[in-house]
Amino acid sequence: MKISLLGGTGSFAEGLVIRWAKVGHEVLIGSRTQEKADAATAEIKEKAKEQGVEGSIVGMENGEAAKASEVVVVCLPPEYTRATLEGISSSFTNQIVISPVVPMKFGKVVSYDPPESGSAAIDIQNVLPDTVRVVSAYHNIPAKGLANFEKPLDYDVVICGNDDEAKGVVSRLTEEMPSLKAIDAGPLEISSMIEAITPLIINMNKKHKHEFSIKFI
Ligand SMILES: NC(=O)c1ccc[n+]([C@@H]2O[C@H](COP(=O)([O-])OP(=O)(O)OC[C@H]3O[C@@H](n4cnc5c(N)ncnc54)[C@H](OP(=O)(O)O)[C@@H]3O)[C@@H](O)[C@H]2O)c1
Repeated sequence: MKISLLGGTGSFAEGLVIRWAKVGHEVLIGSRTQEKADAATAEIKEKAKEQGVEGSIVGMENGEAAKASEVVVVCLPPEYTRATLEGISSSFTNQIVISPVVPMKFGKVVSYDPPESGSAAIDIQNVLPDTVRVVSAYHNIPAKGLANFEKPLDYDVVICGNDDEAKGVVSRLTEEMPSLKAIDAGPLEISSMIEAITPLIINMNKKHKHEFSIKFI
């Protein structure tokens, strides 16, 4: 599939890019500028080579990357997600859009800070055309874990969304990354509950100096 990662120059995207290129997807790294997209692509391609991955990884501006892909992953900082997507909304037709976005407040403890709509995922659905199918996923997978190819990702990925076919695609993309397991939790309104687990994990990580994620048994 053609998969773009908006803000794909950031830390969260790297592991996803390499893992999906490894299994034959065409991956587009999106950025606000072509220059930064090219620089990040060159760097990630080097890291991919170290893993024996020679797949298709190309850098583009965010709007061009979204337009050219079937699946778009929003790897943007929560506070800039809405404005960025509004600015490139004409690039969207009927893509599947994956939201790992977690709006948080940083104080004595890290807390969930949802927008008025209820969650980042619903905010994203609200700014994009109705024909776009938003699926929430990957909020609780640490960027460092995704980019670590020595240790298996023995985690569960809770997903939600309003379109079963789109959730099927996201489940397959998830389970192509060993050893992640996707669990469908229901409609998109569930997203606030999934997003809210992340600050809990971050607070636990800080306290225990560990990298927790989640697994349901
Ligand atoms: N990091 C994690 O462990 C983790 C885990 C789960 C979920 N997430 C979620 O994944 C998303 C990405 O996280 P991240 O840590 O990769 O973020 P990040 O590194 O802070 O930012 C990602 C990219 O966003 C772009 N960006 C920065 N400021 C912007 C602005 N003002 N307007 C538009 N674009 C801007 C930059 O790309 P350009 O400069 O190239 O445009 C940057 O490389 C977040 O929503 C986060 O909640 C992260």
